[in-house]
Parts: sequence; C-alpha cells; structure tokens
Amino acid sequence: MRLVLLGAPGAGKGTQAKKLIEKYGIPQISTGDILRKAVTDGTPLGKEAKSYMDKGELVPDNVVIGLVKERISQDDCKKGYILDGFPRNTAQAETLDKVLDSMRASLDVALSVDIDKDILMKRLTGRRTCKSCQQMYNIYFSPPKKERVCDKCGGELFQRDDDKEDTIKRRLDVYDASTSPLIDYYRKKGILKSVKGVGSIDEIFNKVCSVLEGK
Ligand code: AP5
Ligand code: MG
Repeated sequence: MRLVLLGAPGAGKGTQAKKLIEKYGIPQISTGDILRKAVTDGTPLGKEAKSYMDKGELVPDNVVIGLVKERISQDDCKKGYILDGFPRNTAQAETLDKVLDSMRASLDVALSVDIDKDILMKRLTGRRTCKSCQQMYNIYFSPPKKERVCDKCGGELFQRDDDKEDTIKRRLDVYDASTSPLIDYYRKKGILKSVKGVGSIDEIFNKVCSVLEGK
C-alpha cells in the first residue's frame, strides 16, 4: 500500500503513521523527521532547512523532492510506504506523480485527517518527542509515565523548535495556503479518503484502518 497522509500540523499524521507501521509493516517516510535529523546532525541539508523550519515556512521543493525520490527507491519501500508530510503543495504532488509513473507505480490512497484548528495549538505546544525512538507524547493528553522520559525506550523527550505559538500560527497559515488544495487534488484523482481526527488515538486508528480496508 502506498499511502499519503494529509492533515494540518498537529492533526495526528505522525501519531497514526507510527501505528500503521506496526499494523501493515510498511515504513513511514516523514520529510519533517528526515529534515529534523539533518538539522540535529548539522549536515549541509540541515543547515539549509533550519532557517525555513524555524519560521514555519516550507523548505524548497527541490530539496524535499530529492529526499523522497531517494527514500522511496530503497528496498524496504517495495511493499509500500506511508508518506507523512509530503507532498506539501501542488508542485510536489505533481512531481511525485511523475516519479511514481517512471517507477510504474501509483498511490493507492490519500488519507486526510480532518480536525478543527482550535484543538491544534494545545496538541502542538504540548507535544514531546523521544530523541531515540521518535515516540510522541503530549503533556496535556498523553503524558509519559515519568516526566521527560520515554515509556517505550527510556530515551529523553524533547520539544520541537517549531512548536512555539508564533511559528505554529505560521505553519497553520502555510497549511491553508499551500497544502489544503491537495485535498481537492486527490479527490479529483479518486483516491481521497478522510477521517475525523478527534477522539482518542486508538479510536482514530480504528477509523483509519476501517477506511483503508474499505469497511
Ligand atoms: P512536519 O514535521 O511534517 O510537521 P507538520 O506538518 O507541521 O505536522 P506535525 O508533525 O506538527 O503534526 P502531526 O500531524 O504529525 O501531529 P502529531 O502526530 O505529531 O514539518 C515540519 C517542517 O518541516 C515544516 O514546517 C517545513 O518547514 C518542513 N517540511 C516538512 N515536510 C516538508 C515538505 N514536504 N515540503 C517542504 N517543507 C517540509 O500529533 C501532534 C500532538 O498531538 C502530539 O503531541 C500527539 O501526541 C498529540 N495527539 C495526536 N493525536 C491525538 C489525539 N487523538 N488526541 C490527543 N492528542 C493527540
Ligand atoms: Mg508529524
């Protein structure tokens, strides 16, 4: 299954992707996670990306497209993958279609996680992520058992640099202007499905699986 996850910042794309990996055995490809790792590692890519990410702006298309092209050609992507945070605008979506065409492949589903904006601020300001295994927590909704420590692997939890109120506002505006048109883009292609992103993480996951399995 080749799946694109769509949704505003904080909709729960990463959270649901982690559960989909376990259930379907296909990798998550999060351009945000790849870029954040490059920033932490201080690579040239990370240095270029950081200034955009800190402002809540999109990193230039040619940078992310190159990353995704390389990643989806790897062996573990043969059975499919979950694209999380890519494509992010129409140009990226069109390029992805061309790349997949050249690989004689196509997307199966674009799944939109729909959510009202007022919930998102608390989800994002409260988010904490494990430095080692990237498991996500939320200090308001799903806190770790021990403060700043990952329940799963004991790793240290951190707060993302772009989870500050002003940057979040900009990310939400960028989503409205650049990413939300992709909902229509995939609807026109006949592969759009959607779920409401409210309720517990497990409730949403059940809805996601039902939609993906056509139940
Ligand atoms: P990216 O990392 O993709 O961030 P984003 O799109 O802003 O999305 P988030 O990761 O913030 O939200 P999410 O939907 O994954 O929510 P999560 O599951 O974590 O991108 C970051 C930056 O990188 C961009 O701004 C851009 O600069 C750059 N970038 C990335 N891709 C790019 C591209 N293709 N092109 C150009 N630039 C690109 O959940 C959020 C919180 O809510 C967590 O704390 C979680 O525990 C909690 N939560 C989740 N579900 C629930 C629930 N049901 N109930 C209660 N709490 C919940
Ligand atoms: Mg995410």
